[in-house]
Amino acid sequence: MMPRLSMNTTFLEACKGRRTSHVPVWFMRQAGRYLPEYQRVRSPYSFLELCKRPDLCVEVSLQPVDILHVDAAILFSDILIPMEAMGLELEFSEGKGPVFPNPVRDYRAAAALRIPDPEEDMPFVLETIRLLREALAVPLIGFSGAPFTLATYIIEGGSSRNFLHTKKMMYQEPALFQEILRKISDCTVRYLAAQVRAGAQVLQLFDTWAGALAPPDYTAFALPWVRAVLAGLRQQTDVPLIYFANNGATLLPETSRLDADVLGIDWRTPLEMAINAVNQAENPKAVQGNLDPLALFLPEKQLAERVTALLDAGQQAKGYIFNLGHGIIPETDPAQVKRVVDIVHSYQGTQP
Ligand code: CP3
Repeated sequence: MMPRLSMNTTFLEACKGRRTSHVPVWFMRQAGRYLPEYQRVRSPYSFLELCKRPDLCVEVSLQPVDILHVDAAILFSDILIPMEAMGLELEFSEGKGPVFPNPVRDYRAAAALRIPDPEEDMPFVLETIRLLREALAVPLIGFSGAPFTLATYIIEGGSSRNFLHTKKMMYQEPALFQEILRKISDCTVRYLAAQVRAGAQVLQLFDTWAGALAPPDYTAFALPWVRAVLAGLRQQTDVPLIYFANNGATLLPETSRLDADVLGIDWRTPLEMAINAVNQAENPKAVQGNLDPLALFLPEKQLAERVTALLDAGQQAKGYIFNLGHGIIPETDPAQVKRVVDIVHSYQGTQP
């Protein structure tokens, strides 16, 4: 395949806090079930089969770029793929979401977790990245789960409401909990560094369940491992790093000081509040977010007003990337998503 000649680098520039000709936009979960084109590729396979087929992962990663004209592509995979590579059985059941039938709840199970070699154990992810780079004219985002979020899945055995097993272990067996997070963090640094070697140009850490922790517990049990992963990556790569803490408003005093290039903001946090926190930190960074994914169900005019209000607020940030404040849900109308892209791209800013 011929590489396309003109590269759209607005997303990379905004990550580094530089001014761009337009505000770049991409969407968390932009490849997925809301697109009929995705459903068509996905339907003959299970989700995990799809994740292990680089040719098909490339196809579904390209779909939102071609259909919506977003300014970045994200690797098609899942945050739980490396947990399977650590030796855990993983199933995705229709309706129930991810399931680990043998959750990690004691030292024996923690000791059995292996640190995978990304090239050996997850070659399909790296092959997808290599193929995508040949096909793309926008930057490619690689990703992983943040250590705490990944730990909740393998300790609970899947999704959870109260995080009972996770928090019981945190409080009653903190050394075991930290040992599990140490292993996940080690795996994550190796996995993300391998993604960069394969061609990923930006990395995002998804901390979906960070907001399930009271701030002191976040500081004690989750934050040190986010720091460790960011520091490990800084030693090995110079690509921009994005940290997204879902439901993270109360965590801003800590997250705004992290050594990330971009802070992803969830939809519950007022964007101005996040930008103020980030701008007051010693190392101001770019900000990404944060339209409520359900705002995509608003009538056109109100949707446009919401998007424009975020764009106005974003002008106060060192760099601003438009995104949702969490993933697109499957019932979303792709035409509404396309409308958002068009509004963002035609935004000229407010005069000072
Ligand atoms: O377009 C993209 O964003 C790239 C691909 C991507 C997927 N999952 C594909 C996917 C990314 C970046 C993820 C991240 C992910 N996976 C997160 C963090 C982001 C978030 O949403 O908070 C989490 C928590 C997971 C774990 C996971 N994967 C769950 C809980 C589920 C089931 C829930 C659901 O939406 O069905 C998945 C499945 C999954 N991952 C799908 C897709 C497209 C749906 C699978 C299908 O086609 O049936």
